[in-house]
Amino acid sequence: MNTLVLNNTQIDVAAEILKNGGVVGIPTETVYGLAADALNGEAVAKIFRAKGRPMDNPLIVHVAAFEDIERFHLVREIPEAAKQLAHAFWPGPLTIIMKRTDVIPHEVSAGLDTVAVRFPSHPTAQAVIRAANTPLAAPSANLSGSPSPTTAQHVLNDMKGKIDAVIDGSASAVGVESTVITLATDVPRVLRPGGITVEQLRAVLGEVEVDDAVLHKLADGAVAASPGMKYKHYAPKANVLLLKGSDDAYIRYVNAHAGEDVCALCCDEDLLLLKVKTLSLGKRGDYLTHAHHLFDCLRRIDENHTIHTVYSRLPSIEGVGLAVYNRLIRAAGFEVIDLEAI
Ligand code: TXA
Ligand code: MG
Repeated sequence: MNTLVLNNTQIDVAAEILKNGGVVGIPTETVYGLAADALNGEAVAKIFRAKGRPMDNPLIVHVAAFEDIERFHLVREIPEAAKQLAHAFWPGPLTIIMKRTDVIPHEVSAGLDTVAVRFPSHPTAQAVIRAANTPLAAPSANLSGSPSPTTAQHVLNDMKGKIDAVIDGSASAVGVESTVITLATDVPRVLRPGGITVEQLRAVLGEVEVDDAVLHKLADGAVAASPGMKYKHYAPKANVLLLKGSDDAYIRYVNAHAGEDVCALCCDEDLLLLKVKTLSLGKRGDYLTHAHHLFDCLRRIDENHTIHTVYSRLPSIEGVGLAVYNRLIRAAGFEVIDLEAI
């Protein structure tokens, strides 16, 4: 299949492909998505084939207005909390899980009785949804198991020849996927941290729980509230090791383990102190910038075949730091070296 590369003046071309049951890579403010008509099960099945994604992992349905939820009859009932969240954070990097109707194909819900809905803020994403005149199911546009794509080039690296088209927009501003919150539990619960922080959600809703799988490895045989959490994610081919300890201890440890095949995923302040290859996430404590650069750094590590070991600091779990922590702890297979204990 020839994958067309479109620009954002060719929204109508993308919309026509989507109406005809095709798959198009689209920019969003979080990461690039692989979109298909969410109400067309056959179209959605093509997304799973292109990504190599297990069929038991449900997709997020993207709308271009809060009213689209009712217009397309996506959910049984809109909870009060959903209205409050939408008012505060939509359009934007927040996905809300609610009880679904039978309009949602089983390819989208993967057998669950819920559906995840997001109203993205990216103008191109909104324009495509509006022009296609249907909600769009879209996972991140990476091959299953690879870091999510934050540029059209990342999408092409993974999907060229496997999808009908990609729209080349700018690099995704947030850089990590949306925060996923479910309202199908007694107390609203965060299943995946992202650009909207737990602190922001609590300011609107009051009590909000954070699912155990956000910070910890699921026990063998445990059922994941969010099926995506049980899969190995964001794992570069190199071995990622997370180091817990002071800034000085981090520098000392990495320099003591220097080598041709070693890379430090670090902060700007560390660059001159480290005696190994470096990739910086940004200024220390600037978690928004770290999120923005994270997946691009992980992809660069993969592209450099000489890197076998990556040393990163264990991120803070404050604010958007929690989203970076959640991705990196998975990239590291939950292995953390405690420098104080050495
Ligand atoms: O920012 C984003 O959310 C991006 C852009 C393209 O919008 N999309 C994205 O989709 O990250 P994906 O498929 O890569 O991640 C969706 C996550 C998965 O972990 C999936 O298991 C979970 O959301 N999910 C989707 N529907 C769900 C549901 N009904 N119940 C529980 N988890 C659900
Ligand atoms: Mg994904």
